[in-house]
Amino acid sequence: MRTIEWKDGVVVIVDQTKLPNEVVWVEMKNSDDVASAIKEMKLRGAPLIGVAAAYGLALTAFHSKAEKREDLMKELKMSAEVLRKTRPTAVNLFWAIDRVMKRAQETLGTKEALAEAQRMADEDVEVNRKMGKHGAELIEDGDVVLTHCNAGSLATVDYGTALGVVRAAIEEGKNVKVIACETRPRLQGARLTCFELMRDGIPVTLISDTMVGYVMSKGLVDKVVVGADRIVRDAVLNKIGTYNVAVLASEHGIPFYVAAPMSTMDQSSTSEDAIIEERSPHEVTNIGSERIAPEGVKVLNPAFDITPLEYVDAVITEEGILTPEVILKQKK
Ligand code: MRU
Repeated sequence: MRTIEWKDGVVVIVDQTKLPNEVVWVEMKNSDDVASAIKEMKLRGAPLIGVAAAYGLALTAFHSKAEKREDLMKELKMSAEVLRKTRPTAVNLFWAIDRVMKRAQETLGTKEALAEAQRMADEDVEVNRKMGKHGAELIEDGDVVLTHCNAGSLATVDYGTALGVVRAAIEEGKNVKVIACETRPRLQGARLTCFELMRDGIPVTLISDTMVGYVMSKGLVDKVVVGADRIVRDAVLNKIGTYNVAVLASEHGIPFYVAAPMSTMDQSSTSEDAIIEERSPHEVTNIGSERIAPEGVKVLNPAFDITPLEYVDAVITEEGILTPEVILKQKK
């Protein structure tokens, strides 16, 4: 089952803010609907954000009444501007918008924008499967894999990046179990990773983020596999808390792997240029609708952190397994 689909002129997604308690499908009728869904995190995860933005532009093109090529391009540019402002960290958003805009510019056809979005959705599934196959080489029978946030089918069109590696290893007949960090403040690990792994019958144990050191020190973790929102020349930008996990993994001699498609690579930037999304204080002061912190408290809420490549043992991509040395070399 895909996380996002085009159906008769609308785009349909599962509202991830409602999971795991309710599975609610919502229709997005235009690119503003897509932009709001990205901002409100009804859909999230770097690869899915990219494909959704591509579909957002496809919606603009598909429903446009423009008769002249320039008018259609103007409409597309306006939609692209709104989509670009939704979330700053996942590079897939900008990659996807640029790709559809380039295609529209070259062809100036409404059908081509939709075809490009559909192609990107199909490619995402294909890329995840390839990534999974490469990554599965690093997973041994009996391994317990710790993951952070949700880098699964819900963060992509299907199959997932980090969880795609787990799925591929299991499809090869290996016995693999997962430890999922809850991932405060948005709880993607508790809500989404546990939901999709349990749905697929993959053994998962939920821990709070504060338990990572304990489970590692007790020898309960064999490998860490996480996703990425942007891989810059010297670091991996991923969900807040990833850096803590990486440092603890290094301290305990546990391999730390990042699974991400080539579209997540941003070789034009370094960690110094990183734009880390700062989200609403409400996400930290509340758990769900319940307020847990005193009114008026000062809050910091960066949605992502920066893990230097020195902590990364390998980056698993659809093109194969890259060592950090290869990525760091390109830095010079
Ligand atoms: O804020 P989110 O839920 O969009 O953050 C998602 C992550 O950090 C994922 O780990 C990353 O996008 C990789 S998803 C395949």
